Amino acid sequence: LNINQCDTPELILDLPAAERNIKKMADYFFGKSASLRPHIKVHKSPSLAKKQIEAGAKGITCAKVSEAEVMANSGIDDILIANEIVGEDKLRRLAKLGRVHKITVAADNYDNVKELSRIASEENSNVRVLVDVNLSSALDGILDRCGVPPGPPAVRLANQISKLGNVEFGGVMGYEGALRKFPDFSSKESAAKQALGLLIRTKSEIEESGIHVEVVSCGGTTSYKISGEFPGVTEVQAGSYIFMDAGFKKAGIDFEIALTLLTRVISKPRPDKVIIDAGYKAISAEHGLPIVKGRSNMEVTSLNAEHGHILIKNTGENRGERTPTIGDRLELIPSHVDTTTCLHDKYFVMRSGEIDSTLDIAARGKLQ
Ligand SMILES: Cc1ncc(COP(=O)(O)O)c(C=O)c1O
Repeated sequence: LNINQCDTPELILDLPAAERNIKKMADYFFGKSASLRPHIKVHKSPSLAKKQIEAGAKGITCAKVSEAEVMANSGIDDILIANEIVGEDKLRRLAKLGRVHKITVAADNYDNVKELSRIASEENSNVRVLVDVNLSSALDGILDRCGVPPGPPAVRLANQISKLGNVEFGGVMGYEGALRKFPDFSSKESAAKQALGLLIRTKSEIEESGIHVEVVSCGGTTSYKISGEFPGVTEVQAGSYIFMDAGFKKAGIDFEIALTLLTRVISKPRPDKVIIDAGYKAISAEHGLPIVKGRSNMEVTSLNAEHGHILIKNTGENRGERTPTIGDRLELIPSHVDTTTCLHDKYFVMRSGEIDSTLDIAARGKLQ
């Protein structure tokens, strides 16, 4: 199928580009003391997760139990849920997964882990637990969400967990990867290093209290080179690198754009404006409006639920560029891939300029 015969709006996955991204990240971690444990919330596809593992990743990271179930049922064994899982219903699902697979979960509350311990015992299961450490004090308040403060509160929780049955204290987790707020690489680097310093100091304090810390898990696409080199870090959860997006490109992250949204012009109300068949329901604007791929004379100026507004700027250096007409297809680069892929059921897979297959987004809708 030629891209101009593909339905719209649909996601176009440039698979060779994604495979080059997978290899580049895996190669970076080859021979390092830290391993790669990519976050799959970005692509939600077991087949892409398996490619990441085949390339060298030690396992995967998920955000939700239902996501982990899809990945485990496809044969992926070593799964970290880098999130708090709360409630008897979900803890039971977690424990059932832990009976067959190597499951690790983050926690920041003793009662929550005690409940997991009870349910895991009923289910004859074992789940590894990482103490989630809130690193926002080093990140100018960014990601002040889950997690216990570094230092004594984390040491206390680690000690409490280590005394429970059917759960195994595995180590600590923190996320220092959301660094968009910092304007340049050196300010990103210094914030990330401060945050990682807190995490590693907490690990040392837990060890000084007599408990072995096997895992120090952290990191994202923005910070993988910082966390990947930081002494004491054992695994890095970067995920968005597989597809990249306009936001990461703007931040200077050096991977290829592998995912676009194919759209179609459905109206041309004025010579300098076209309307496309994709809005918020098809593409995220979480980190800004999407960019029209390869068309410097076009700018997405706003989105509605089902429509996108594009301004055509045939002035100055863009004079003479082709202007689109009704029925033309345009590719958009999302500002954030994570909140774009979750809107779709499948990828149209492109290789050598042709669309040759589709790939299910199997964990689509798995938000539970
Ligand atoms: C806990 C955690 N780990 C890893 C990631 C992946 O980071 P990135 O999307 O920068 O690759 C995220 C993303 O939000 C996250 O919240």
